[in-house]
Amino acid sequence: MMPVSMVGRAGERAELDRAWSTVVDAGRPSPAVTVITGAAGVGKSLLVAAAVEGFSPRPAVVLSGAARLHDPAPYDWLAAVLSGRDTSGLDLPPDALAWLAQQPTAPRERYAPGTLLRLAVRTVRRLVGAGPAVLVVEDLHALDPASLNLVGELATAGDLPALLVVASRPPADAVAPDLAVRVLSRLCGVRGAVRQHLGPLGVPEVAEVLTQVYEGTRPTDRIATAVWRRTGGNPYALTELLAAHAGRGPEALAERPLPEHLRPPAPRPAAPPDAELTGREVEVLGCLVAGMSNKQAARALGISVRTVTVHVSNLLRKTGSASRTEAALWAVRHRVPSRPLG
Ligand SMILES: Nc1ncnc2c1ncn2[C@@H]1O[C@H](COP(=O)(O)OP(=O)(O)OP(=O)(O)O)[C@@H](O)[C@H]1O
Ligand SMILES: [Mg+2]
Repeated sequence: MMPVSMVGRAGERAELDRAWSTVVDAGRPSPAVTVITGAAGVGKSLLVAAAVEGFSPRPAVVLSGAARLHDPAPYDWLAAVLSGRDTSGLDLPPDALAWLAQQPTAPRERYAPGTLLRLAVRTVRRLVGAGPAVLVVEDLHALDPASLNLVGELATAGDLPALLVVASRPPADAVAPDLAVRVLSRLCGVRGAVRQHLGPLGVPEVAEVLTQVYEGTRPTDRIATAVWRRTGGNPYALTELLAAHAGRGPEALAERPLPEHLRPPAPRPAAPPDAELTGREVEVLGCLVAGMSNKQAARALGISVRTVTVHVSNLLRKTGSASRTEAALWAVRHRVPSRPLG
């Protein structure tokens, strides 16, 4: 199957371009921050890659890293950034660099955690130089605590001419959910930070993907709608469905059984009865966990912003939370599903 080019997401790309221009034009002293959250497979990585690829002027430096999913180690993000890079001219203690880069020959850790964090920040500074740079943090939800702290520090570091772009699944899916919630809210608290919650594709975008796959033949509305419903508009699910039925006509996408792994999962346990949340409150809480603003939650649930505000204040009271972040942490601990599950 031919790779499909990105559909939709024009608004999100424009926002990323705007964030980049604040770094380039204003020569701002500390990083601009953009946080992109969304369910697994919704298209965060593709959006980031396409946006960075299209930045104008081109970044002088791009530092991009993701967690190694199978055995995350301290400073995984930085180790991924350093891997394959010549660091000999960096003016940092070589043993610390070797350790941060997770080189097998590195001496055992000899630095205090605070010192390592400072050295990690300094390493990024040296790599960024005069910039302007783009720092891409992929899969924040899967990162180790040391990397999370580093990302939080970088977001508020002075004199760092960079755009920090962070992509994350909702913190409920995180390796360290409490810390992920804290770091995400620290990132979103940076002045001018942009937060984007990526939703699924709509029927027209699904139709556009199918048109690409069937070489210019637009699917009927019935088929596009059926495929959209079966995949929830999730591009990863769509890709899998297309792969499972490659070589068959578009009818198959609408009618043949879904591959096993695309069938809906068993529902997760709901909020515990002890907090006595209403169904609507659980939904609003799910939006908080997903990091949505009241306006985004209102849109997601089809209710007014004013109603969301009322639900949020009831939620804070019922969960004994002092802030939205605390309520989100409460939800993660009590396994309230984040919304949308995609
Ligand atoms: N807007 C889009 N148009 C067409 N295809 C897309 C779009 N967004 C994503 N895809 C495709 O869907 C798949 C999943 O996308 P991607 O890896 O970007 O998701 P993700 O949100 O980063 O997922 P994860 O949470 O697993 O990191 C990829 O094959 C990608 O090419
Ligand atoms: Mg991704």
